[in-house]
Amino acid sequence: MGIKITIIGSGNVGATCASLLANKNLVETIVLIDIKQRISKGKSLDISQMNSIYGLNTNIIGTENYEKSVNSEIVIITCGVTRKPGMNRDDLLKINSDIIHSVVKKSIFFSPNAKFIIVSNPLDVMSYVSYMTAKINPYRIIGMAGILDTSRYRFFLSKKLNISSYNIQSLLLGSHGDTMVPLYRYTTISGIPIKEFLSEKENDEIINKTKKGGENIVDCLGTSAWMAPAASIVEMVESILKNDKKIFSCSVFLKGEYNLSELYLGVPIILGKNGVDKIIELKLNCKEKKLLENSANHVKKMIKKLSINY
Ligand code: LAC
Repeated sequence: MGIKITIIGSGNVGATCASLLANKNLVETIVLIDIKQRISKGKSLDISQMNSIYGLNTNIIGTENYEKSVNSEIVIITCGVTRKPGMNRDDLLKINSDIIHSVVKKSIFFSPNAKFIIVSNPLDVMSYVSYMTAKINPYRIIGMAGILDTSRYRFFLSKKLNISSYNIQSLLLGSHGDTMVPLYRYTTISGIPIKEFLSEKENDEIINKTKKGGENIVDCLGTSAWMAPAASIVEMVESILKNDKKIFSCSVFLKGEYNLSELYLGVPIILGKNGVDKIIELKLNCKEKKLLENSANHVKKMIKKLSINY
């Protein structure tokens, strides 16, 4: 039997992810689940008809029925409420934790061996909620944020330096939000350290733009971004399915790495067929350590506020 992927939430992120995945011809079936059944049905038909044009073979099923997701290789959680102008990701804590808890419970029942990619916000806490709900090896539950945040950083940096964003390699640590931790020392352009191109102060301006990257889009569109988030998810799906073992910053469960534990936070990992293959522990300097600690404290505070009964 071919590979099945389930996407929970047929909104902008979920549907765009399905369409980008279909374009890659990577899997046999994509199940697009939404409580609004007509939305998942309509979007699945639209993507299927796009497939006819491009000669793509992925079968897209739009449904509200979790039974259809049975034995998925990967479940992608995109559902919940998105930000409106003036809101930050943390404002979604209560409403989204209830939603994520309920959908993960149903998903793990039908796909007990799946890997989970969490996209709903506030991302690091929703990944934690998913783990507490599914009660599986935490390395099978991974939050998507670092690929998106670095894509924004690379974009702004490429504009500033007038070079291709493709050549920029970077890692951002910490929470998907204002406390994200830039790693100037670990940023290179085609292997050349970033300090050859711009000072740390100039880089800080780019980082500030990156932090506001999601918010700017919310201000323009009245809702969150979906193209770059969906593309980031597809990067992760591909690395898992092909066991590529690519290195990405992802939100993962920490068990003492970076002196942190019992929370999900963005750190570099090797991503393979079982999920997190390895967490890469960098030797941070004092300033970087402090920033990461601050980010972790912020996530821990939110976890404390949760009132879900697992
Ligand atoms: C963003 C949302 C997806 O950063 O968190 O655009």
